[in-house]
Amino acid sequence: MNIQKVGMIGCGFVGATCAFSLVQSGLFSEMVLIDANREKAIGEAMDLSHGTSYLAPMKIYAGDYSDLKDAGLIIITAGANQKPDETRLDLVKRNVAIFKDIIPKIKAQNCEGILLIVSNPVDILTYVAYKLSGFPASRVIGSGTVLDTARFKYLLGERLNVDSRNIHAYIIGEHGDSELAVWSQAMVAGIHINHFSELRGSFNHHQEVMQEIYEDVRDSAYEIIKRKGATYYGIAVAVKRIAEAIVRNQHTILPVSTLMTGQFGISDLCLSIPSVLCQNGVEMVVDLYLNDDETKKLQASAKALSEVIADLDLDPAA
Ligand SMILES: NC(=O)c1ccc[n+]([C@@H]2O[C@H](COP(=O)([O-])OP(=O)(O)OC[C@H]3O[C@@H](n4cnc5c(N)ncnc54)[C@H](O)[C@@H]3O)[C@@H](O)[C@H]2O)c1
Repeated sequence: MNIQKVGMIGCGFVGATCAFSLVQSGLFSEMVLIDANREKAIGEAMDLSHGTSYLAPMKIYAGDYSDLKDAGLIIITAGANQKPDETRLDLVKRNVAIFKDIIPKIKAQNCEGILLIVSNPVDILTYVAYKLSGFPASRVIGSGTVLDTARFKYLLGERLNVDSRNIHAYIIGEHGDSELAVWSQAMVAGIHINHFSELRGSFNHHQEVMQEIYEDVRDSAYEIIKRKGATYYGIAVAVKRIAEAIVRNQHTILPVSTLMTGQFGISDLCLSIPSVLCQNGVEMVVDLYLNDDETKKLQASAKALSEVIADLDLDPAA
């Protein structure tokens, strides 16, 4: 397996932007692009390759599934995206059908790399990819709430007038309408966010402001899609951060979507909880402290996902 080789399946807005972000990252020496529209994959490979003269040498080409055999990381962004007013869960049927086409083709390559799912609804599709690929759960990851957490930290940073990188706070659960903010553990410089906001004189009406920030995070994609038709820059940077944690074996804690195996009473579905990420994929799901309200919200988020999963037919032949 070549850890410096990445495969990108799906070269639409998200796939192409993620590919651009990865080319700039210097993490990879080889990138194979695959799309149902082969001409699109060829065009993106040509365009991306032209930038390497000012970056670093890299082999970028439109390929097929046999080229994924030795890829260390395989990213899937293929599938329909949300239309204005559509939820991520509305995409289920269309994108599960696409995954039933893609995942068996990956499985046939006997890859040892890591599968990173980005297509929506990402938690459902991560579970579908896990079930259909036969890969161990540690090697099937969804981008989950890594993007939502970035949005959360950004908005908190703006409110508190502090560098968002100094904020430790997570959005967890479904990457979608049932996600939740873990306010009880939100910290800035080791100080709880409520206390820090008082020190900064940033917000006095905690409950109101917290609800407003949470809703802004949860509804970000709707607001962006309404205006420009798709979201892709934020996710491209989130994917680059996940790839970096894997390729550089950083043991970074990120809220990727991963298989639940009894945490908070939740099992046999994928959702996001902060997890230690390294070259082997998810090494550990962090048993973070949640208060009673947060635990109930996380369980409700899991219930929303399990109801969708119950309706899926995951027989690969179906
Ligand atoms: N996880 C996240 O945080 C996040 C953020 C933004 C978008 N997304 C999701 O990413 C997905 C892609 O969004 P987009 O805006 O790039 O859509 P898009 O329509 O621009 O691109 C989708 C691409 O997938 C290709 N495709 C379709 N079926 C295929 C198949 N069977 N094999 C190979 N390629 C196939 C299409 O040809 C197209 O190029 C959507 O599901 C969207 O909701 C996820």
